[in-house]
Amino acid sequence: MIRFGGLFQSPGWKTENHVPVIECPDSVQKDGTFEIRVSIGKETPHPNTTEHHIRWVKVFYLPEGDRFTYQLAHIQFSAHGESAAGPDQGPAHTDHSAVVTARLKKSGKIYATSYCSIHGLWENTRSIQVH
Ligand SMILES: [Fe+2]
Repeated sequence: MIRFGGLFQSPGWKTENHVPVIECPDSVQKDGTFEIRVSIGKETPHPNTTEHHIRWVKVFYLPEGDRFTYQLAHIQFSAHGESAAGPDQGPAHTDHSAVVTARLKKSGKIYATSYCSIHGLWENTRSIQVH
């Protein structure tokens, strides 16, 4: 049986334009406000069409030494050119990047996951030091 976690593609797969890129400081002040930017395919752009787009990004935090993960954000990208006139005829697109403002009390890992309408689930992670 493939467990759910085994369904995620990670950096290093043949195309890199799905990997959620996490940009945030390497270290932050305890309980100080900072920003986490998540974007998809920073170097190789991902399409944003009615039939092929990034639908959502979720951001999680695992404190060092903790068994449980905390969800920081769920960002839904809802407009991809849909219209009564037909696919890709619509007047609006939400592009697949977002900035989340957070405060942490402990060092740990930030995880970002994303979902492509065609290519499924993706993940990335980075460490963050809290002092
Ligand atoms: Fe895709």
